[in-house]
Amino acid sequence: MSNTTVTLHDAGEGDEPVCNTSGNPTFGDIIEAHLSRRGALLGGLTAAVGAMLVQPGPAAAQGTTPAASSEPMLGFSAVPTAEGDRIVVPQGYTARVIAAWGEPITGSFPRFSASASGADQGMQVGQHHDGMHFFPIEGRSPDRGSSTDGLLVLNHEYVEPRFLHAARYAGQRLGGSAVVIANDKRETDEVLKEINAHGVSVVRIARQADGTWAVQRDARNRRITGQTPMEIAGPVRGTDFLRTKYSPEGTRTRGTLNNCAHGVTPWNTYLTCEENWAGYFRNGTTSGDRPTLPREQARYGVSTRRGRYAWELATSGADEFVRFDATPTGANATADYRNEPNGFGWVVEIDPFNPESVPVKRTHLGRFAHEGVVFGPAREGRPVVAYSGDDAMFEYIYKFVSARPYTAATANGSLLDEGTLYAAKFNDDGTGEWLALAPGQNGLTAADGFGTLAEILVNTRAAADKAGATKMDRPEWGAVDPRSGEVYFTLTNNTRRTAEQADRANPRGRSQFGHIIRWREANDDHAATRFAWNIFVLAGPEADSRTSAGRALGTDSIFACPDGLWFDAAGRMWIQTDIGESQQNKGDLAVFGNNQMLAADPTTGEIRRFLTGPVGQEITGVITTPDRRTMFVNVQHPGATTTSDDFAAGKPNSLWPDGEGVPRSATIVITKNDGGIIGT
Ligand code: FEO
Ligand code: CA
Ligand code: CA
Ligand code: CA
Repeated sequence: MSNTTVTLHDAGEGDEPVCNTSGNPTFGDIIEAHLSRRGALLGGLTAAVGAMLVQPGPAAAQGTTPAASSEPMLGFSAVPTAEGDRIVVPQGYTARVIAAWGEPITGSFPRFSASASGADQGMQVGQHHDGMHFFPIEGRSPDRGSSTDGLLVLNHEYVEPRFLHAARYAGQRLGGSAVVIANDKRETDEVLKEINAHGVSVVRIARQADGTWAVQRDARNRRITGQTPMEIAGPVRGTDFLRTKYSPEGTRTRGTLNNCAHGVTPWNTYLTCEENWAGYFRNGTTSGDRPTLPREQARYGVSTRRGRYAWELATSGADEFVRFDATPTGANATADYRNEPNGFGWVVEIDPFNPESVPVKRTHLGRFAHEGVVFGPAREGRPVVAYSGDDAMFEYIYKFVSARPYTAATANGSLLDEGTLYAAKFNDDGTGEWLALAPGQNGLTAADGFGTLAEILVNTRAAADKAGATKMDRPEWGAVDPRSGEVYFTLTNNTRRTAEQADRANPRGRSQFGHIIRWREANDDHAATRFAWNIFVLAGPEADSRTSAGRALGTDSIFACPDGLWFDAAGRMWIQTDIGESQQNKGDLAVFGNNQMLAADPTTGEIRRFLTGPVGQEITGVITTPDRRTMFVNVQHPGATTTSDDFAAGKPNSLWPDGEGVPRSATIVITKNDGGIIGT
């Protein structure tokens, strides 16, 4: 490295978003209640819980094995909190690993190795597994069909370069997201490998004669990456916002990035959600010495300096890399990539059964840090309804209601291209309302730059600010109870909320532990514009937590920073945690140990710990086979808490799952030893 200036560029911790301060107005009217004193607060919460309607509503149509009336909701022994480098599941259960990062699934099936190339990575399972679904192999329904053979479709949220480039980076003092920049350039194959480790994997898996599961070589296996060509659909398609050198018509873009959670449509396609995409771009536009980024980039945190992994600095200077620099350089938008960031922040639809299909970005679901998307139950002749959270501090919860009704025989993704996007307002009295984000409604006018639907959707956050939605504590996953129809959302934490900014729906100042909120739509109609809400659980230690039954969490149930959330067909709610890397096993968070998964009974409020994960990771993504006898769970970023000194010394603090080499994100397959239903 002589004659070379080597710098380290560290983009910060994992997937934890920075607080978005750009253009975020001060906190609105509903904060005036000042419910900052804990005593008053918890009394108020209990009253709100009591006031909510909690009778089970009409059962949703479910394709999976329905719950027997005698099925125990929490029929397993709790596992203790843990700090070990392994998976722990309850007595009577077994967990095995499948589809670890780097496992070959397509092309020439290059085997996993520390020195695999960027091209190799494009034929292997990506890194940092997140949201996931098991599609039964028949391809007719997302939740009916084979329980032994299917397509596992999973997101890869981000990468950890020091493990991704283990051979090149060995011996260097590197933190979790640092990349090596030499002479202001990045090695092109490293950049390609990082881009190819992002995106989505589609991989056929099947149960073997001995009961284990294995990856199958199948023509439908596919990698969708940060480079895969995509169509853009909905109201923003073809507008000036999307015109680039690559797509002068503003109809296409390349790749999907920071794919966090997911969704599954009633018509058997997969949705992948773009969360912290803004950090991957830079835009150096200035006036004098002040950055002057357009609203649609500044409000989302596009960097004025370097992109997250500085992909724009790839030595080759190829178009697919320089596009991550959105600084205008040409005569107009079709001569450069000033609009490239506008092609991100969307929900992307993928047909996993057609490997030739082009993924489609569905712009009517809004543009923000999309955590995931969850559908209300599809009902013939009724609109399709999809809920989505914007995971950043003080951001919003949204729902989309289709204009056209759902008809099972003809339903497809175009249902998501016409309708209304709403943002949620949670009133302190336990009621709530959905505020339409559409021209002429809720103060959205041309005078403020919201004259068209495209302007509103590209600037979804700014539109929700204007409409007066409620600023939440980092909305992560949502889930809909198949029995009651109630919608649940995790609010993972918000350490920047002050006591004065607390409200009934986000009741803690400096919320370290997070909570789960739930609501019921008026008349049990998911398309309704009013709802009633309460708090299902305030997460935390025994001394600072509260379940819906008014009790504190206990040894078997304490948890913090809820993130992943999913209901099985019996109405058992699975909660997954993501205590950030800088907090794990430290300070007030030490008592929770490694990140974990719990099950909850939404009726009684009881919660019980089902699984603990290895060192440094988060647990995220959960689905079962239709018979509910096999569960898939993702383990993301094991070893991320390895210090730069320990990395330099070749001692990652996790070697999960291989016990050697580098830690690898992976899917675990959980079965009950007696072949029974998971959780019973
Ligand atoms: Fe990617 Fe909000 O977790
Ligand atoms: Ca995380
Ligand atoms: Ca998450
Ligand atoms: Ca998270």
